[in-house]
Amino acid sequence: MDPEKLKELQNRFLVPTYAPELSFQYGKGIHLWDASGRRYLDFTAGIGVCNLGHCHPVVTEAIQKQAATLVHVSNLYMNEKQPQLAEVIAGRTFSGRLFFANSGAEANEGMIKFARRWGSTRGKYEVICMNNSFHGRTLATLAATDKPKFREGFEPHMDGFKFVPFNDAQALEDAVTDKTAAILLEPIQGEGGVHPATNEFITRARQVCNAKQLLLLFDEVQCGIGRTGYYLAYQHYGVTPDAVSMAKGLGNGFPIGAFEVDSKWGDVLGQGSHASTFGGTPLACSAALAVFEVIEQEGILSNCQKMGAHLKAGLVQLSRKHTCIRDIRGRGLMIGVEFDCPVLEFVKKSAAAALLILSAGENVIRLLPPLTVTARDIDEALKILDDVIEEHK
Ligand SMILES: Cc1ncc(COP(=O)(O)O)c(C=O)c1O
Repeated sequence: MDPEKLKELQNRFLVPTYAPELSFQYGKGIHLWDASGRRYLDFTAGIGVCNLGHCHPVVTEAIQKQAATLVHVSNLYMNEKQPQLAEVIAGRTFSGRLFFANSGAEANEGMIKFARRWGSTRGKYEVICMNNSFHGRTLATLAATDKPKFREGFEPHMDGFKFVPFNDAQALEDAVTDKTAAILLEPIQGEGGVHPATNEFITRARQVCNAKQLLLLFDEVQCGIGRTGYYLAYQHYGVTPDAVSMAKGLGNGFPIGAFEVDSKWGDVLGQGSHASTFGGTPLACSAALAVFEVIEQEGILSNCQKMGAHLKAGLVQLSRKHTCIRDIRGRGLMIGVEFDCPVLEFVKKSAAAALLILSAGENVIRLLPPLTVTARDIDEALKILDDVIEEHK
């Protein structure tokens, strides 16, 4: 469609919660093409979703095949793919039990309900969340999200959530009351500016949960499914949560979310206590099964670790040249570059130079390329970033 016509339709018929400027017609691997045939290097992967690159042939084939076989049967019936996918995820994490949903927010919503249900028999309901957190836009996940910009105008927020500074173990410990049921955190905060939790913080969080009998909940919607070089980012820390949520990379673009609970809490959400019409359809689970197949067959985790190191090293080089770069952080291919100035212009200018990047907060550029990225792609992206920063001076 003609881009002008598309814009007109967009402006007339869509609720204006987004303000997109570009549109793409076609995607393959790390590249996207617009209507004029211009090729872009995609270091956003649909905000950490298309981790295997756009339209990975194995995932596409699995979707096509399943779409022609059985799309949906409701969870009133067994579907062959859902328990298979649960086994695959459990086998690569902490052998828990899974509930399937459709998005990150829905996965977190379910995980929070799990904590509430667990707490309800113990007289506890409160969830301690982190400053700078992001857990989604539904009402419960918004109540667990710190950012005022997202919260404003949706008051009153759901009761039972409170916030402590991220990576402050003492503040976390001090915040626990006899009403506290759970601690909820992102092992690497994404939207909040790409801040990894410290080893000490995660270890102390687990210790506090053990000592005070609380649940430790990890939101791995963004940092999970290989993004940091492990299946889930908590695996960097040698600490196991009581429950973890995942979504984005799970279907490589096909909508699917999930939360996994430790098998010792496997019956907290009993029959009829939670549900989702579209959660874990044969189609969604087939896409996710193909994702795991590719992760294993193509050595995606080790590529992520290697390429993450390559990207970081290149960024360190850039920071020697450009003193406006204040910090480079993250794990694997979830990388934040903090500047001493707002980064929106960098994001726009990179897009104009055919490199797509993200911001995370005002001063941080976030790089989330597909985990299939090559050293050549990274060098190309670094060259564009170098020029964009140079031009800005
Ligand atoms: C850590 C985290 N949790 C939850 C969400 C919400 O996911 P969704 O947009 O799929 O509802 C996001 C989305 O960016 C996220 O980064």
